[in-house]
Amino acid sequence: MPLERLLMLDADLIAEMTDLSSATDMRALFVSQEADRYELHSRHMNNMMVRVLKTIGFDVRFIRGKGAYLFDAAGDRYLDLLSGWGVFAIGRNHPSLATALKSVLDSDLPNLVQMDVSALAGILAERLLKYTPWLQKAFFTNSGAETFEAAVKFARAATGRTGIVYCEHSFHGLTYGALSAVGDQLYRSGFGPVLPGFVEIPFNDLPALERALRNRDVAAFCVEPIQGKGVNMPSPEYLRGAHALCQKYGTLFVADEIQTGLGRTGRFLAVEHWGVEPDMVLLAKGLSGGHIPVGVVLLQKQVFAKVFDRMDKAVVHGSTFAKNDMAMAAGIATLDVIENEKLVANAAAQGERLMASLTALKSRYELVKDVRGKGLLIGLELGEPKSLKLRASWSLLETMNKGLFCQLVTIPLFRDHKILVQVAGHANRTIKLLSALTINSADCDWIERSFGTVIDQSHDVVGPVWALGKQLIEGSRAAARAG
Ligand SMILES: Cc1ncc(COP(=O)(O)O)c(C=O)c1O
Repeated sequence: MPLERLLMLDADLIAEMTDLSSATDMRALFVSQEADRYELHSRHMNNMMVRVLKTIGFDVRFIRGKGAYLFDAAGDRYLDLLSGWGVFAIGRNHPSLATALKSVLDSDLPNLVQMDVSALAGILAERLLKYTPWLQKAFFTNSGAETFEAAVKFARAATGRTGIVYCEHSFHGLTYGALSAVGDQLYRSGFGPVLPGFVEIPFNDLPALERALRNRDVAAFCVEPIQGKGVNMPSPEYLRGAHALCQKYGTLFVADEIQTGLGRTGRFLAVEHWGVEPDMVLLAKGLSGGHIPVGVVLLQKQVFAKVFDRMDKAVVHGSTFAKNDMAMAAGIATLDVIENEKLVANAAAQGERLMASLTALKSRYELVKDVRGKGLLIGLELGEPKSLKLRASWSLLETMNKGLFCQLVTIPLFRDHKILVQVAGHANRTIKLLSALTINSADCDWIERSFGTVIDQSHDVVGPVWALGKQLIEGSRAAARAG
């Protein structure tokens, strides 16, 4: 009997045998209690997050997400330039993804047998490795941080060295191994000690990298081709130079493309812009379609073989849920959408347009210091004004909290223009635009109109941005007086 028929019979049989009347209707559950979300979180979860949302007026109760948009309880549509920290590359709730995931649930596949190998995982591995023909193996994980952890273990095992070099301002995740390679003290403070053997160097500094590698004790140099925190661009020669230095000193070059990969920068991998073929490529975030967490290390077979080198070590590294069928289906469906809808080309085209229009603001507005990025990973950096009328207010705010002014700019963007966007990291003056790769020219009009208006208003000391700033300053003075 054909396999398809066998699967169908089985599904029909189970459906007949099962009483579904007691199954929870998640939509009804959401409708009945969504209005309590802030209260539930304050009581049982992270109350600081609720405080942040209420303070900046982001507590609008989103009730639906579709494509690049979110809809709130008042019926307003928002353009989402966070895309769930980059996971919704194909947009929210893409119908192809939903169909693929439902088809897994409807098929009763033999998921996570553990003493078998998954067909869908093999298929996804093959699909991914087509994008990196110089790499031969794929290792699946459940998140970005776990992907980074796996890369560190592969690198140490393959080289017999312990050193891991990473860059200032980098972000690789918040589990201990990944945290040990995060170049921002805020994330580490209070959690130390981190793992030994990790060395931080400045980004874009080849002599510093060479000094770090010279002793030949470094297993891997881990780098984001474009740093997510700050949207920091590599200089034209940096990644190729770093790769050459790694080859010279026997260090593995690990490209963390967890944020930049899968078309985000207008190429499938960001390293393609600079013609670099890393020893390991890390992907996660967008591969999930936004629904089922998944990450992957793509690597060379000789590195892989150093970890999985004997039958008794066939499970020496892994994770119970890695390679689960829903995650693998999400990955396959995501690649289908990226390919069928030509999202890499769309990211390149829409990104080029936005880069040009936002860059034009630089010559018109003294607060706009820089616009940088590639594809749909764009940073707009604000900085100290020259004119006297703005300088005093700027200094007051920035003394209170570095990056505060930049944070204030995101509030009218949200409240008045329905654009959800954030600063590119802690104490950062760069606003990061990280939309779905599906945005169209009407969305770009929306971005240009909104940013144009709010940046213009931010040059008016009696405008809404500075009014918010004054409110904050007065609030903090009153709190100080109250003791
Ligand atoms: C470049 C990079 N690496 C790793 C991670 C960690 O991913 P996750 O949050 O899934 O652990 C992130 C998350 O923002 C990232 O941007």
